Amino acid sequence: MKLRTVTFSPAISILAVVMAFSLFISSCKTAGGPAGNDIPVGEFASLTGGTATFGQSVHNGDVLAVEEINGAGGVLGKQLRLVTEDDQSKTEDAVASVQKLVNSDRVIAVLGEVASSRSMAGAPICQQAHVPMITPASTNEDVTKKGDYIFRICFIDPFQGQTMARFALNSLGKKRAAILTDVKQDYSVGLDEAFKNTFTFNGGVIVSEQSYSTGDKDFHAPLTSIKGANPEVIFVPGYYTEVSLIVRQARELGIDCPILGGDGWDSPELTKGAEKEFNNTFFSNHFATEDPDTTVQSFIKKYQDKYHAVPDAMAALGYDATRILADAIKRAGSTDSVALKNAIAGTKDFPGVTGRITIDKFRNASKPITIIKVVDGKFHFAQRIGPNGEALTPFQP
Ligand code: PHE
Repeated sequence: MKLRTVTFSPAISILAVVMAFSLFISSCKTAGGPAGNDIPVGEFASLTGGTATFGQSVHNGDVLAVEEINGAGGVLGKQLRLVTEDDQSKTEDAVASVQKLVNSDRVIAVLGEVASSRSMAGAPICQQAHVPMITPASTNEDVTKKGDYIFRICFIDPFQGQTMARFALNSLGKKRAAILTDVKQDYSVGLDEAFKNTFTFNGGVIVSEQSYSTGDKDFHAPLTSIKGANPEVIFVPGYYTEVSLIVRQARELGIDCPILGGDGWDSPELTKGAEKEFNNTFFSNHFATEDPDTTVQSFIKKYQDKYHAVPDAMAALGYDATRILADAIKRAGSTDSVALKNAIAGTKDFPGVTGRITIDKFRNASKPITIIKVVDGKFHFAQRIGPNGEALTPFQP
């Protein structure tokens, strides 16, 4: 680094002092914290970048919940104030975002992220600062192992992988599977393993294992290898941007078997321009808009009124996470970090849009999972499976 000597005129020096002072005053104001007249809650999300729909949806869900809570008088007599940081779908930016939220904005809790790798990057910062973090949507098993201040309100990938392996074997009757994994994402790697273990344990065979990296656009090489192994079903535990291209290219190569995935598929972008290619695909998810449950339908209505769009799973999870946090602050009776952490841990039978949510001793949520069938670009409800793997509804082929 080069050092330069700069001389200031007196006018500029005075200006600098005034600016520094006003910056100090404003930082005192935003640092408000629990003693201020509002309650600052942090949120880090991928509002832009490769998984932008994840961040935008979760943010919409968070905002809807905050507005509702504040409209009903807030929490402990104060309004919630959401402080949002865009991490641009990048792990390094997730770290910087959480550092800012915790150290400068002095938030009392952090909501986020959606992608597991980014939640795992942010979690140690929250843990070290004793700021409770709730990820609405990160399903990799290791996320909540980062410490006792780290929670999630979604199911975990071992459950998701097992569910899709059993679905392939039992509901679809397929015994030969290929897997195509994004080696850059903890989410994808964890889901791959869970699927593989359950599939082979129950008599299935993995005929080909191929990989790719986030950002890749051409999947012809791994797909050609997969085709050569002649699988009856393919599991692609990736995020929608790449999955959208993978399914398209697989169909171009004449691969017409069922293709399965996990919650990372859930995006309005998934099937755009490839509605036909996505027929005969299924993925596990947290929520289905066709669910007749009144909690679900009333959420969909409120969301549509505000955003003129149909909510996806992240929106529903963001809404649930924010409401669970508000509920915990109320039960804690304060925003003290230990009291708040204990109250979140004590969440029991919370009536979420994504199901009844109870936080277990590993700070994970025990709840049902939904299997979605994609038909002409639309996501249809196919089956609901309970937390112990039991079919709660029959499979609707
Ligand atoms: N479960 C994914 C992860 O952990 C994120 C995700 C959640 C994506 C919900 C879509 C819907 O990385």
